[in-house]
Amino acid sequence: MIVSTNELFKHAYGKYAIGAYNINNLEQTMGLFRGNMDSKAPFIIQISKGARSYTDKRMLEAMIRTADQIFPDAIFAVHLDHGDEEAAMDCINSGFYSSVMIDASMKPYEDNIATTQRVVKAAHASKITVEAELGQLGGVEEHISVSEDQVHLTEPDQAEDFVKRSGCDSLACAIGTSHGAYKFSGAQGVHFEIIEAIQKKMPGFPLVMHGSSSVPKDEVDRINAAGGKLKGAKGVDATQFLKAAKLGVTKINIDTDGRLVWCRVHREYFKEHPENFDLRPPGKVFMAEFAKYIVEKNRYLGSAGQLDAVRKFIGK
Ligand code: G3H
Ligand code: 13P
Ligand code: ZN
Repeated sequence: MIVSTNELFKHAYGKYAIGAYNINNLEQTMGLFRGNMDSKAPFIIQISKGARSYTDKRMLEAMIRTADQIFPDAIFAVHLDHGDEEAAMDCINSGFYSSVMIDASMKPYEDNIATTQRVVKAAHASKITVEAELGQLGGVEEHISVSEDQVHLTEPDQAEDFVKRSGCDSLACAIGTSHGAYKFSGAQGVHFEIIEAIQKKMPGFPLVMHGSSSVPKDEVDRINAAGGKLKGAKGVDATQFLKAAKLGVTKINIDTDGRLVWCRVHREYFKEHPENFDLRPPGKVFMAEFAKYIVEKNRYLGSAGQLDAVRKFIGK
């Protein structure tokens, strides 16, 4: 059942975080639903601009609607990840999305506010909630690459002003993480002091952590042993998710780790079966492994086991 992102946030705030997982294809979709059902967790499906144009945005919608029928007990929200104004308006008008992200964080401050305000106005008129971003994370997404010297951590005073003036419903903060597999080169980590300062200023307001993949060493080692060349990859320690959740981080975005599962499964499968060319055998392994990966993430997020309580909370 597709529900409002806001309702999921209300139940989770201060206790656990909702996993926000990106999907691009059928196998990820099946693995995602299975994993969340196996761990009895509410979740958020994220669709990026790149995912919408990978095949056709209608294909993703159709897959999600069908998965909803196959897994009638699932409780989830559908969210546009890192939208620009055009994509956000398109999703709002589609009537399919629970929430949209408007990412105007690369614009000057006042422009970011004005753009976010326009999206909020349209979204709220359709009862859709809006995630905005302030500060700039590093790393690579399909349409944007931010180098280390362009990274700006979120300033708590500015965050309060931004939320008040833009009217957004949740805020993605730059707190030291970055997108992709190469987050930390040394001993850096999540800036909890920034999250704490923002929560003090805006208690009860949902914060979002982007760039939350852990890039597990054993996954990287297995990929490299099967012919990959990932060097120096390092991510967020998943044991810190609950600490962040208690400080108001209510949505945790994870994508790269799922791509690593895909890469490991396919590299290992074809290395072990060089005579094979069929897509279904590794596809089956991938769906099972993706489901296992979701179960493990939900355990760290604290969302595992919350499904019945959420169902009661939203009265459905
Ligand atoms: O933050 C970005 C997400 O990982 C989505 O990546 O834009 O390549 O689909 P993408
Ligand atoms: P990762 O690249 O760490 O998985 O982050 C994903 C993300 O923030 C999607 O918005
Ligand atoms: Zn992101």
